This record gives sequence, C-alpha cells and structure tokens, in this order.
Amino acid sequence: MNELCRILGIQVPILQGGMGNISNAALTAAVSEEGALGTIGAGTMTPEEVEKIILETKERTENPFALNIALAVSPFSKELMQLAVKHGLKAVSLSAGNPAPFIPYFKENGVKVITVTAAVKHAVKAAEGGSDIIVGEGYEAAGLNSPLETTTLALIPQLADAVNVPVAAAGGIADGRGLAAMLALGAQGVQMGTRFIATKEAPFSELYKERLLLSDDTGTAVIGRSVGRIRRVLKNNAYTAQLLQQEKAGLSLDEFTNRTDEKHHILGAVEGNEQEGYWNSGQIAGLIHHIPTVAELIHSIKLEMTETIGRLEPYMKKEVQP
Ligand SMILES: Cc1cc2nc3c(=O)[nH]c(=O)nc-3n(C[C@H](O)[C@H](O)[C@H](O)COP(=O)(O)O)c2cc1C
Repeated sequence: MNELCRILGIQVPILQGGMGNISNAALTAAVSEEGALGTIGAGTMTPEEVEKIILETKERTENPFALNIALAVSPFSKELMQLAVKHGLKAVSLSAGNPAPFIPYFKENGVKVITVTAAVKHAVKAAEGGSDIIVGEGYEAAGLNSPLETTTLALIPQLADAVNVPVAAAGGIADGRGLAAMLALGAQGVQMGTRFIATKEAPFSELYKERLLLSDDTGTAVIGRSVGRIRRVLKNNAYTAQLLQQEKAGLSLDEFTNRTDEKHHILGAVEGNEQEGYWNSGQIAGLIHHIPTVAELIHSIKLEMTETIGRLEPYMKKEVQP
C-alpha cells in the first residue's frame, strides 16, 4: 500500500487506462474487483451512454473505479464531470487537454483527479493546480500520443523528480517486470492499455485480439505524423496499411481526422472490420502471447513483480557489483 494506492483506495498499483467509447462495465469492474483501478473511457459518448455504463459498473463492483474524459475529444466534458460527481466516483482521469480549470470542482466534491500527460512542464502545472496523481505516458503507448515522442523510460524519472504527487507510468508495461522497473524509476504504479485488450473480459473483436497476439516488437506503426498527429496502432490491419499509403500521397489534417474518428475506431476494435477500422496498440504488443482473465493477469503481474524485485537482491550486497 503506497501513497498512490491510498489516494485511490486500491490495493494493487495498476490502473487500467481509459479506452474511449470502448472500455465497458465488464472490463472496468473486473479490474476494480482485483483491487486495481478500472476506468471507463468516455471518448465521444453522450452523458446518457456513459451514465448507463457507470450504473452497470456499480452493479458489478463496490470497489473504486474512474472515468476518463479526454478533454479535447469529448463534446460533453462538462456534463461528464457532473456525472462523475453525481455518482460519487472515486476518481476522474483527465487527458488530452489542460485539466487546471476543472480541478477545483472535483476537489470541492471529493473526487480525486488523475492527469495524463507526456511532459514534465504539463505535469508540474497539473500538480500545482491540485491534481492528485500524474500519469506519465510515453511514446510507446497505444492510441493518441503526444507529438513530443518522449519515451516512458526517459519520462518517468524526470516526472517523479519534478512533482510532489504520486506518478504512475503508462506506455510499454504489460507484466510484472515492467511494473517493477517503473517502481525503480520512481513511479508508484502503472497504467496499462494494450495488455488489457487481450483479456477475456475486454469487449474487443476476436480478430483484434488475434492480431495483437500475432504482433512482435515491430508490430505497431505511428499514423498521422504527416499531419502533426501521433496515433500508435497495429500494423497488421488493412485499413492502417491503406491509411499509411494515403498519408504518403498527401492527406490533410481534416481528412486524417475523419478517417480515424470514433466510427473507424469502433468498426475496427469492436466489430473487427479491418477494411474500415484500425486497432490501437502499444509497442509492448510483442510481449502478449495469451488471453487470460483480468484476475489471472493481475495475479501473474503481482507474482512476477515480487520475483523480479527478489532477483535484484544480490545487487544489494556490496561484493556483487553489476
Ligand atoms: C483501445 C485503446 C483506446 C484508448 N483510448 C484512450 C482514451 O480515450 N483516453 C486516454 O486518455 N487514453 C486512451 N488510451 C491510452 C490508455 O489509456 C493507456 O494510457 C495506454 O494504452 C498505455 O500504454 P500501453 O498501451 O503501452 O499500455 C487508449 C488505449 C487503447 C489501447
């Protein structure tokens, strides 16, 4: 139990990253039931749609869970914030925008604020503004990324040094070794997205999960760089291959935005239509070889984290120097 766990009321320092329009009640509740923090990803969903998922999640678990609001993405940010307060959620996770103007509202209403950021400067601002936890997300991560392209390995220790609130590391973590490594770098926990796609409870199409399992360390591509957007996706998808070709031929920002909007995300991720939809994925895809339940996954991560830290014990002895 560290400070991050205490703030969020959880026992396991793992956050399931919000997955806009997709991470449903079954996945969120399964994660929270294991003592980690499940998160509903609002994406572009209406407040009515999100409220339904909140209520269903509450039926499945009494443990804390969070709502992710991607500020630049949701047309309903304000209404979603009110929903989080109305339902007494333990925490909100705010990404893709400046959280500072909204933090006082959550403070007044006892909701903890997790800010997702990819730069020290933004993290310091969020922490000074009252954010309770900072998630530092590196360039390895799935989905929309910062064009700054800073990696998790470089970002986390710099963030941990710069802010006086707990940091969780996101991007490139899928097992207990990753969790142990991030703790060593100064984080108090991790946020995972890609690893949770390949779980029994995740509401993704079987084709998406299969292709994730087939991926290796070179299995992801960044789309959108030509128009100043960075989205990391699986390469082994027909729509992505087509998009990369279209980018080479010259695609405007508007065209790119339309072709990667939530409709195409859902077509790929949920409906398994690889002719018209893409699959978000992080670089850690190559480490994922099976589809466990969330309970099995979290259990194995905890075990492996302890074993990993145990393996480092000889280095504590003065006579064994690396
Ligand atoms: C399918 C999918 C959708 C995502 N959507 C969102 C989102 O709506 N908001 C957000 O802040 N992060 C989103 N992310 C990022 C995750 O919350 C998480 O930070 C990231 O996946 C961590 O890196 P990893 O994929 O290497 O584990 C998404 C990730 C995936 C895999």
